[in-house]
Parts: sequence; C-alpha cells; structure tokens
Amino acid sequence: MYSPRDLGKPDYISLNIHDTASFARGTSRSLWRQWNQLSRFQRNILYFAVITILLVIFYLLPGETKSNILINDNDYGNVKVIQDTPKHDKLVEELVVDNAEQGGGADGGEVIEEPEFQPEINQIDDDQIGEPPQPKPNALKFDGPQNDRQREVIKAFKHSWYGYKKYAWGHDNIKPVSAGHHEWFGLGLTIVDALDTLYIMGLNDEFAEARAWVENSLLFTHDRDVNLFEVTIRVLGGLLAAYHLSGDKLFLDKATDLGDRMMPAFSTRSSVPFSDVNLGTKSAHSPKWGPDSSTSEVTSIQLEFRDLSRSTGQPRFEAAVAKVSEHVHQLEKYDGLVPIFINANTGLFREYATITLGARGDSYYEYLLKQWLQTGKTIDYLRDDYLLGIAGTQKHLVRRTAVNHFLFIAELIGASKDMKPKMDHLTCYLGGTLALGVHHGLQPDHMDLAQEIVKTCYQTYAIQPTFLAPEITYFNVQKLEDENHMDMYVKSNDAHNLLRPEFIESLFYMWYFTGNKTYQNWGWQIFQAFENYTKVPNGYTSIGNVRNAHNVRPRDMTESFWFGETLKYLYLLFDDTRQLINLDRWIFNSEGHPLPIYES
Ligand SMILES: *[C@@H]1O[C@H](CO)[C@@H](O)[C@H](O)[C@H]1NC(C)=O
Ligand SMILES: *[C@@H]1O[C@H](CO)[C@@H](O)[C@H](O)[C@H]1NC(C)=O
Repeated sequence: MYSPRDLGKPDYISLNIHDTASFARGTSRSLWRQWNQLSRFQRNILYFAVITILLVIFYLLPGETKSNILINDNDYGNVKVIQDTPKHDKLVEELVVDNAEQGGGADGGEVIEEPEFQPEINQIDDDQIGEPPQPKPNALKFDGPQNDRQREVIKAFKHSWYGYKKYAWGHDNIKPVSAGHHEWFGLGLTIVDALDTLYIMGLNDEFAEARAWVENSLLFTHDRDVNLFEVTIRVLGGLLAAYHLSGDKLFLDKATDLGDRMMPAFSTRSSVPFSDVNLGTKSAHSPKWGPDSSTSEVTSIQLEFRDLSRSTGQPRFEAAVAKVSEHVHQLEKYDGLVPIFINANTGLFREYATITLGARGDSYYEYLLKQWLQTGKTIDYLRDDYLLGIAGTQKHLVRRTAVNHFLFIAELIGASKDMKPKMDHLTCYLGGTLALGVHHGLQPDHMDLAQEIVKTCYQTYAIQPTFLAPEITYFNVQKLEDENHMDMYVKSNDAHNLLRPEFIESLFYMWYFTGNKTYQNWGWQIFQAFENYTKVPNGYTSIGNVRNAHNVRPRDMTESFWFGETLKYLYLLFDDTRQLINLDRWIFNSEGHPLPIYES
C-alpha cells in the first residue's frame, strides 16, 4: 500500500525552467534576430521539422495517455489539460488514501470503490496521470406518453410547468394562487427537481430550456445557508440523474461544483455532518434550533455523494458519506431502530428522541437498502442493518386498528417509549421500499407487510371526502362501545396535503413488481383527486384541509417534489410496459431521481 507521500512528485519540471530562465532571457534577443534573418523557405522547413517531431512524439506515447489527451482536447482544449495537472496529483493521493481507509473498514475489508480504479492507481508514474475513470454516459431515449393516463399526467405537468415558467422562473417555487414565487435556498429548486422528469416524459423543448437555465443561471456562490440533506437529494440528485439519463456533462460539472461546496459540512469531530452549510462561504454549522442533526438527514446523502465520486473519479465525496454510515452502523440501536436526532459534535443519538419511520427517521431505512443495491450488494452491513430495522419495526411499531384491523406503523415517544398510534404520510414510502428489497432477494414475507401498508395508506386517501390523504393520520387501536367508532381520524393541524409523493411512489413499486392493475387504478383515483381539488389557474397547490371538499383552503404553494416525484411516479405508474426505468439497473434517491447501480 502506498502512502500518499510516496507519490509526491518533485516539481522538477518547473525547477528546470527556473534554471534555464536567465539563459533564455539573455539569448532570446539574438535568437529573434537570427530568426528574422532566415528566408521564408528556411522558416517553413523549421516549422515542418517541429511539427514532425511533435507528431512522432505523440505517436510514440502509450495509448492511454494519448486517448486522455484526445478526450481532454475535445472537452476543454489543450490549455485546460495543462492547468488540470496539479488537480490530478491531488486526486491520485485521494484515491490511495481512500483505498487504505476502505481496506481497514468496519466491514471485514469491503472495498467500496469501483474495481476500475485499481489499474489507474497501479499504473501511475510521473508522466502518466490520466483522467479518472468515468462511467460512459449512455443517453437513454424516451418516446413520450403511450396511453391516455400518461397523456393526462403530462397535461398536468405542463399546466404546472408553464405556470412556474410564467410567474416564478428561476425561483425555488411558484405560488400558483397569487401568481408569485417563493424562495427557500435560491437554487431554482423546481427546475433542477424537474430536469429528469422532463427528460423521461420526452418533453425535449422544455428540457432544453431548463438545461439552458442550469448552464447560465444556476449558481452556488450565494452567501446563504442551505440544508445539506435537502440540497443533496434535490439539487445534487437532480443534476446527477439528469447527467446519467441525458449523458450531458454540463450536469456533472454543476454537480461537482455543488459537491465541493457542501464538503465543509463534514468537518466535524464525529464525521456526522452539520445540518446546514453555506455554499458561498463554504462554512457549516448546526441548525439554529440546537446542536442536533436529523438522523434521516445525515444518513440520506450517501447515494448522491457516492454517485458523484463514481462519476468524477474523485473518491473524497464517497469517503465522507461512507464514514457517516459506518459511524451510525457502530452506534447502539433499539432493536435496529434509531432515534431521530444525532449530535454532530459527539456523534451520539439524542437519548429519548422519538423513534419513527416518518419525519426525520424515514430514509435512514430506505438508504440502507438502496446503498446496498447501489453498491451491487457487496456491503453486507447495510443489508443487515436494513433487515434489523425492519425486524425492529415489526416487533415494536407494527400495530392494527381495532375495527377493520388495518396495519399501521406507530411511533415510540420519549424515554418510556410509549406507543403513539399515528403515521405520517411520509411513512407510506415503506411499502415500495419493502417490495424493492423482496425483488432483490430479501425476506419474501416483507411483501405481505408491504401490501398491508399500501392498503392502509390507500385508506388514508379513500376515507377523505377529497380522496386526498392528510399529512398525519391517527389510528384507534382500542375497541370502544361507541357504534360510530372510526379506525382513523385526523387532527385539525394535520389536515393539509402538500402534494406529497410517498404513496404514489409505493404504488409504482407495487405495480412494477406485481403487475397488479389495482395499484394503477388507485393511483388514477388519486390523480383525479389532485385534479379536482388542487388544480388552480396557474398550477397545482398545496391545500390546508382534505376533510372538506367544499373548502380545501388552498395554501398557494407548489413544492418542487410535485415536479420531481409525484408527477414522475404517476407517469411511471401508468407505464403499462413497466420498462421505462429498469429497477435492476437504477435506484431512485429519496427525491425520485434515478441513479445507476454499480457492480460494487
Ligand atoms: C391486487 O392488489 C389488491 C390490493 O392489494 C388485492 O386486493 C388483490 O387481491 C390483488 N389482485 C391479485 C390478482 O393479486
Ligand atoms: C373528480 O371529479 C370528477 C368529475 O367531477 C368525478 O367524476 C370524480 O369522481 C372526482 N374524483 C374524485 C377523486 O374526487
């Protein structure tokens, strides 16, 4: 194993230049005079000789170096190649450091990076620092809608998109009722979240417009705090998915710039990242409300940072997030379940924090499975922790309602771990994730759990007069003598619907893996409910009350996941061929952005 220092190269080329510099200055004038005295013919002979020598040198170069020069030539021009060399040096060090770290990793010597990296490391000598390996982007082709339901979804997408374009272009969100806009991070979230959806739907003109905005106007230089997790899943994930689907390197370059600027979040004592990072000043800190980061947030950035490393050949992104996963893996859990807060300074869970598969807990479990899949099922602890988490869920959180015995996933509150019979709509992702695991060979009985969760989530929509689910649903677990006794109820503060995707996402997975049209039909009912109760002249809006079809109280807001997830999953759900995105080759990140599965 090399240490980084072994590879440090003396900068002898520039030293030589210094040594000859004074000679060059002294003789340059007389050389110039002699040159001017040559005839044109003589000069041409010299030109010809120089060009011939250069060609011969090029011809004699080893093939790899040659192709690197050619590639760089096409991408940047020669100047860039020369400027890039110091960066490559650094990159080599990182490759080796990463290698050493992973070799002694927590999981019995699992090596996380791609095998293709290896030969590059071994072949490095002073003259041959090549471009890092990059997966060859194969642009996928999409033919547009194939049936009426897909056409209706596209109609809805366009209605929303053109409202955004007209009134909020370049801002994070449109406020579709007031025809205004909303800013959260100032990163054009709607455009970036929508890129891959536009591409998959075959909306090529709109995609080109969005691409042009990314090229000219997506800047990460604002002095402004952003949330590491949100920006990772939406912007980094959105850019990487657009890159992989379209093969357009612009998106990868933007993603790399963004990734660089988010790295300061990882400079904590514990390796658990701070929740907030300032992209402009490249500094990071805890959230304003306290020293803790959300558990799901620090464990749901791994797919994106790993993919960035694999796509650029720069291992430091993956190294930073793998360390977080390995750290959380070592922490003590409650039968595989995790509290929802973790302290970035101490690296420890906040004692007595709630345990839930809803807000701040959800995608911890999702990303265990998906990271395991992304790395070709080669990192065992990810699968093991996922299975432990689901076993813990079955043991402690799965409950049934008193009347109709609907299954739901409860929460455990505080030190006493009292059961609270409530489920966030966010938890409805779980059905799809379980089905994905079963498809990839994990416990078949998880499919029963998946079906039951999906059935319950469907009920949270179907029992409302709007046919739209609230943000949070409560469940009755005790049978009372009251004949009006209901299985589910909603509190006033929880009656809103933000156009969230999680249930549609699960319906898509269930449809994809079973081919059971019931799931398509359920999705169609919900789509119609969105049409009936959330559509406004300039788009679709969050609503404040799903319990009153006559007064849904529009909230004047379209979240970017409406474009990135809800409409995308609806479109995929209505794909009768179930082949638009191959789930053996792609995994969707937590924001619905597809990233490629690697062999290791
Ligand atoms: C399709 O799924 C629904 C909902 O889970 C279920 O009730 C039905 O039995 C399934 N149909 C078939 C043919 O499996
Ligand atoms: C939506 O409106 C249509 C037309 O008024 C109606 O047929 C349908 O039942 C409604 N669907 C829902 C889910 O409200």
